[in-house]
Amino acid sequence: MIYPQSNSHRQVKDISGFWDFRFDRKNEGLKKKWFKGLAKTQPLAVPASWNDQLEEGKNNLGPAWYQTRFDLPTGFKDKRVFLRFDSVNFLAEVWLNGIKLGQHEGGHLPFVFEITPKIKAESNLLVVRVEGLLKPDRVPPGNVPFDPKDAFNNTFYPPASFDFFPYCGIQRPVLLYTIPLLPIEDVTLSTKFKSSTGIVKTEIKTENNFKGLIRLTLTGFGQKVVKETRALDRQTTLELKVPQVRLWNPAFPHLYDLKIELLDKNQPIDQVHLTVGIRTIAVKGSKLLLNGKSIQMKGFGRHEDFPVAGRGYLPPVIIRDYDLMRWIGADSFRTTHYPYSDQMMDLADRLGFLVIAETPAVGLFFKQEGLANRQRLCRQYTKKLIERDKNHPSVIAWSLANEPHSHRSAAKSFFKNLIQFARKLDKTRPVTLVSYLGLKEESFADSDLVCVNRYYGWYSEPGRLPEAFERLTKDLDAIFKKFKKPILLTEFGADAIPGCHANPPEMFSEEYQADLLEGYWKILSAKPYVAGAHVWNLCDFKTAQATHRPSGMNYKGVFTRERQPKLAAHRLRKLWKKE
Ligand code: GCU
Repeated sequence: MIYPQSNSHRQVKDISGFWDFRFDRKNEGLKKKWFKGLAKTQPLAVPASWNDQLEEGKNNLGPAWYQTRFDLPTGFKDKRVFLRFDSVNFLAEVWLNGIKLGQHEGGHLPFVFEITPKIKAESNLLVVRVEGLLKPDRVPPGNVPFDPKDAFNNTFYPPASFDFFPYCGIQRPVLLYTIPLLPIEDVTLSTKFKSSTGIVKTEIKTENNFKGLIRLTLTGFGQKVVKETRALDRQTTLELKVPQVRLWNPAFPHLYDLKIELLDKNQPIDQVHLTVGIRTIAVKGSKLLLNGKSIQMKGFGRHEDFPVAGRGYLPPVIIRDYDLMRWIGADSFRTTHYPYSDQMMDLADRLGFLVIAETPAVGLFFKQEGLANRQRLCRQYTKKLIERDKNHPSVIAWSLANEPHSHRSAAKSFFKNLIQFARKLDKTRPVTLVSYLGLKEESFADSDLVCVNRYYGWYSEPGRLPEAFERLTKDLDAIFKKFKKPILLTEFGADAIPGCHANPPEMFSEEYQADLLEGYWKILSAKPYVAGAHVWNLCDFKTAQATHRPSGMNYKGVFTRERQPKLAAHRLRKLWKKE
């Protein structure tokens, strides 16, 4: 999927801003045809969650209505015009000038409507109805009836089956954009290298009736490689050979520029630019290999989370989080527990971070009731995540779920199918899921990596770190003995209330958190089959209210929610940062 870009053939306009907004507490908006125009509205910032912008928004999961007006921007005339939402959580229904464009389920991934026939020169009325209600047959699920065989039923309020606040709203930018009548529809890149030559395989999708020329120009590091061919039907594949290749890796995130042009009778009719990082990723025995060399990642799980904006797109916070990870010596993260913004992913390529890209499938359970809908959503998310992020060199694996409650037998076939589905969509990257079951996670037989979350010394062996470390090392050895695949410890950590100190260390103190993380890291870094360790979490984050979440916060961050270091941040930096 090509992110909208502007050049002599394409235009983009961001229509984010202060939109008209109102809640629909009686859920009467559809019946009363609010999509023809809202009354009694107040301004609300787009993009951002609505929950922390308005006092009445706190635990309100909708429905709510947005509206904005826009004129057809210059340069848009006689072009194909599209409307793109980068993320709306959870269900969005969209009308333009009173006509329904459609609806979309699921946050954190983009959706697009072609609006060419419905757009007017002036004063187009865009209305969006959004609700983020928690339902057992949704993904992520909520309001799940208690069943000892299933989900951990954290007594959260709002009743989420996952540990982060269920923020709602139009949470990322909304874009108007054009593409030519005969466009470059999509591009899929895959890279490898042979000794000092890089190889970039480029699959270009065009419209059936485009029979002109496709020209590729790859430039970078003193190289310029040009190749062109007549377009085949819908898909044309070209391979570029790059001499003296500069490989992409965290230390040297070398990126090339790839210009793709379509020419009809020698006249350019479309063009897009992509950045290309040439690297390989593979699993071989117990090793995860980047460019043929085994790696041991160090990093974090994190959340797109910040005061007031909630889960809203905040460029300065993205920069700050990368700066924190660079400062502490991290080289990787998992997009827990949902795909992050397009811009965050572009920066991972540019700054050199390895990313395990995860779908929004957290809190899955496998009771038959509602399972078909949960499966449908998981397939939709897997497909759209891979379509969106397949060209990022930083993305080195796909995680199809976090902590599914896989006790029931239906889980095994559910994931076998989903893993096969993902592999069909992308043959170049390892596919995995993240489990808390460890040895009992039967789906690790089908995944390429073993990703486990472990909280010994926190949820078990509380206050007893030596026992916790002992149990950790035994557990990891047993898991490796059974599955013989690289293991990523995708979560480990402890809550530390900022400013809480204790000597000797005790739970919730910064000292205890720092000691736990140091002890885990010393064990993990010494295990040859451990391909990575991700601390939970980079920063403290908002979650739902519960007796185990003081003021609705998860304090496992090594930085505070305002991005200031705790003792653990300094301790990890000593362990990780190579000066
Ligand atoms: C789980 C889960 C996280 C959660 C963490 C915790 O491992 O994956 O989303 O926040 O535990 O309990 O802190």
